[in-house]
Amino acid sequence: MIDVMKMFKARMYMKRNQPFLYSWHAYVGYELDLFKAFERPMTKRDVADALQLDADLLNQWVSVGVSIGHLKEAGRSRYKIWNAWKLPKPKGNNSSGVLLKEMMELHIPTLLSYPDMMRNQDRLHYDEEKHAPTVAETSRLLEVLALPKISRRLKQTQAASVLDIGCGEGGYIKKLAERFPKTHFTGIEISPSVTEVAKKLTKDNKNISIENADLWKYKPDQPQDMVMMNNVIHYIDLEKRQELFNELASWVKENGMLSVITPIAGGSDSPPFANVFNSFFSSFDNLYRLPEREELAEWGEQAGLELLSIQTVIKEGGWYVVHYEKKS
Ligand SMILES: C[S@@+](CC[C@H](N)C(=O)[O-])C[C@H]1O[C@@H](n2cnc3c(N)ncnc32)[C@H](O)[C@@H]1O
Repeated sequence: MIDVMKMFKARMYMKRNQPFLYSWHAYVGYELDLFKAFERPMTKRDVADALQLDADLLNQWVSVGVSIGHLKEAGRSRYKIWNAWKLPKPKGNNSSGVLLKEMMELHIPTLLSYPDMMRNQDRLHYDEEKHAPTVAETSRLLEVLALPKISRRLKQTQAASVLDIGCGEGGYIKKLAERFPKTHFTGIEISPSVTEVAKKLTKDNKNISIENADLWKYKPDQPQDMVMMNNVIHYIDLEKRQELFNELASWVKENGMLSVITPIAGGSDSPPFANVFNSFFSSFDNLYRLPEREELAEWGEQAGLELLSIQTVIKEGGWYVVHYEKKS
């Protein structure tokens, strides 16, 4: 009986892990531009030669691709992509593949370090400059869902000035600047390489300025109608979060707004993904757990900001956009 249970459980673990194959296959295809290479029917040999890749490993990757329906035989020993809508688009243009890259290169290896970290009572150190470009790009995948909510608020406030803290590639301010041409947008970003990308992507927008700056060393020239801070709270030490809110509040005009996007965790109703984000962030000595709902209200209250709304962006990830108004 015990052997049967053992077998049953092992089988269950394997089955539960099957989706990993799809992600792994898609990640490798994205990282090496293989889906592009097999866009038209190609032999494995030609692709290995053209991209200078190990032929045996490519062979294995193609076999898995055929078995999970990412690739299909196309006659005369050639293969081509199949179910293309499921596959990530090539690199650049904010492809969804960047999420696979972040998961496979950063999240999963980090979570696999748990036994060692727990045994050694140790933490990893998050290499900001190494991961900043990928993380800034993945964050942008949320834009499409969060932007309408921010736009609506901006329209109400008729803001003349907006400041985006930790603006990443400047995706939010670029889209907003196009929709609100009379508003001036400033983005600040600590990573030099990400700042460069943001500058490049917004170079044609006259109402945008991007600066390479650390938020702790920055002060806007004048109070802003709206300050935004999207997906940045987990970079801030828990002890410094109230101080940060006080600082941000001092940058906002009376009756102006603070808009914050963040996953929220810690409640008993938090979705598994929000909890596992916390497991990930807590693995590093320089990243910190996500805020709880009550904390967001409390930090605002202490800083003289009235909490207007907490709206869902992505339920499964526990992602929210939080709006505050500075009391007069
Ligand atoms: C997860 S990304 C989010 C980017 C963008 N706000 C978005 O939501 O798409 C966080 C960004 O904050 C930047 N950042 C972290 N700490 C910062 C600081 N102290 N000052 C300015 N930017 C910071 C990081 O370099 C990174 O690009």
